[in-house]
Amino acid sequence: MVAVAILAAGKGTRMKSDLPKVLHQMGGRSLVEWVLNSLSELHLSRRLVIIGYRGNLVKEALTTLSNDDPALPELEFVEQPEQLGTGHAIQQLLPHLQGFQGDLLILNGDVPLLRPETLKLLLKTHREHQVPATILTAHMPNPKGYGRVFCNGQNILQQIVEDRDCSPAQKQNRRINAGVYCFRWPDLAKVLPKLTSDNEQREYYLTDAVNFLDPVMIMDVEDYQEILGINDRKQLAAAYDILQTRIKDQWMTAGVTLIDPDSTTIDDTVQLEPDVVIEPQTHLRGKTLIRSGSRIGPGSLIENSQIGKQVTVLYSVITNSTIADGSQIGPYAHFRGPVAVGSHCRIGSFVEIKNSTLGDKTNVAHLSYIGDATIGNQVNVGGGTITANYDGFKKHRTIIGDRTKTGVNNSLVAPITIGEDVIIGAGSTITEDVPDDCLALGRARQVIKPERGVKSRLKKSSDA
Ligand code: UD1
Ligand code: CA
Repeated sequence: MVAVAILAAGKGTRMKSDLPKVLHQMGGRSLVEWVLNSLSELHLSRRLVIIGYRGNLVKEALTTLSNDDPALPELEFVEQPEQLGTGHAIQQLLPHLQGFQGDLLILNGDVPLLRPETLKLLLKTHREHQVPATILTAHMPNPKGYGRVFCNGQNILQQIVEDRDCSPAQKQNRRINAGVYCFRWPDLAKVLPKLTSDNEQREYYLTDAVNFLDPVMIMDVEDYQEILGINDRKQLAAAYDILQTRIKDQWMTAGVTLIDPDSTTIDDTVQLEPDVVIEPQTHLRGKTLIRSGSRIGPGSLIENSQIGKQVTVLYSVITNSTIADGSQIGPYAHFRGPVAVGSHCRIGSFVEIKNSTLGDKTNVAHLSYIGDATIGNQVNVGGGTITANYDGFKKHRTIIGDRTKTGVNNSLVAPITIGEDVIIGAGSTITEDVPDDCLALGRARQVIKPERGVKSRLKKSSDA
C-alpha cells in the first residue's frame, strides 16, 4: 500500500506574492497540480495534502480539480497551522496515518517537472531494497539552495545537510536532495517525534528524519531538470521554459510543424494532430484541439477551442470556440465563445464574434460585430454589418436564415429574425422581422438637389 503526502503549506516567501507558492501557474496548471499529475503511474491508496498558508485557497483549487477523476482516492487535507518546517509538516500526519503499515511517498509541492516514470522507479527501488527510506537525488550543475546528499559507494545515505548549514567544503558536493522521498511509514512515524529545530533556520527539517533512519538508499534521477524546485519567479520562468521544450519536442516528434518554436507556447493540455503547422508568435492554451492540415498563426492566441481540419487562422484571438473544417479566419478576427463556426466559412479582417452560431459556407468577411446571433448556411454578411444586441439593459438575439445577404453597413437591431433568401439594402437599419425571400430596405430615401454642388456654391459666394 502506498499513500502520498504533498507538502503545500509554505507561503513561498521568495516568490514575493500573496498567492501561496504552490498555486502559481505554469503552462496552464498550478505547481501543485503538476505534482499531483506526476503521480499518474502509481496505484495510490490515499492522497494527503498538507496545507497551511492560505490553505483554503489551495484546498479550493485542488478540490475542483480532483472532482475530475473519480478513479483516484479523494484528496485529504491536513492542516499545518504554523509553518515550522518540512519535518513539522509531516509530523501533522501522525494522527491521520495511525496504524497505516504501507509506504509513504512524500513530495514537495514546488517540484513540478517530475516525470511519472521517475516516481514509479523510485518506488520500485525502495521495495526491492526493503529499506526504511529511499530518497531521490540528482547531480545539479548549480546546487545552490538545495540540501546536499552524502553517501557511500553503494548508494547508501550517510547524511543530508541543508545548504545553509553546509560548511564551504560540503557546499562543493553537487549531489542534492530532490525533496522526493519514499518512507516505510511505521519507521518514519517512530523518528518524527525526535526532530529538533537546532539549525540555521530554526525549523524542523524532514531531512533530519532521513538522517535518523538507517539504511537509507538514494536514487539518482537521470535528468536533473526533473527535480528543479521552484522558490522564486526566476526559477518559475526557467521551469516553464523546460516544460515548453518538452511539450514542443513531443509535438514535433508527433508530426506537427513549429515554424519558430522559440516564439510559440503550447499548454500541456493542448492536443494537435499530425500535419498541423504552427506559425511564429502563436500561443495555444487550455483544452484546445487542432486537427490535421490546419495552419495557425502567425500571431494568434487560441484558448479552449476546437479547430477542424484544413482551417487557417491568421493574427486572431479565439477563445471557447469551435471551427469546422476548411474555414479561414482572420487576419484580425476575435472570437469570444461560445462561438461555433461551420465548415468552409470565411471570417475576415476586423470581425468580432461573440456567443453565436454560424452555419456552413457563411462569410463575415469585413469589419463586423456579430453578437448573440444564429446565422444559417451560405449567408453573406456584408462588410460593416453590426448586430445591435444590447439595449443598454439586456442582450437580445439575431437570427438570420440560410442564403441571406445582408448589405454593407447594416444595423440589425435585436431581437430580430431575418428569414431565408433575404437581401438587405446597403446602409439599412433593420428593426422589424423580415420574411423569407424579401428585399428589405431601412434607410432614408436619397434626395438630389441640383446646383448645390461645389461649383455652384463657389459661384454663388462670388456673386454675393
Ligand atoms: C527542501 C529540502 C532540501 C531540498 C529541497 C528540494 C528540507 C529541510 N529541505 O528545501 O533538502 O534540497 O527541498 O527542493 O526539507 N512546506 C510546508 N510546511 C513548512 C515548510 C515547507 O508544507 O513548514 C512545504 C512548502 O510549501 C514546499 C515544500 O514544503 O512545497 C518545500 O519547502 P521549501 O521551504 O521550499 O524547502 P527548501 O528550502 O527548498
Ligand atoms: Ca523548495
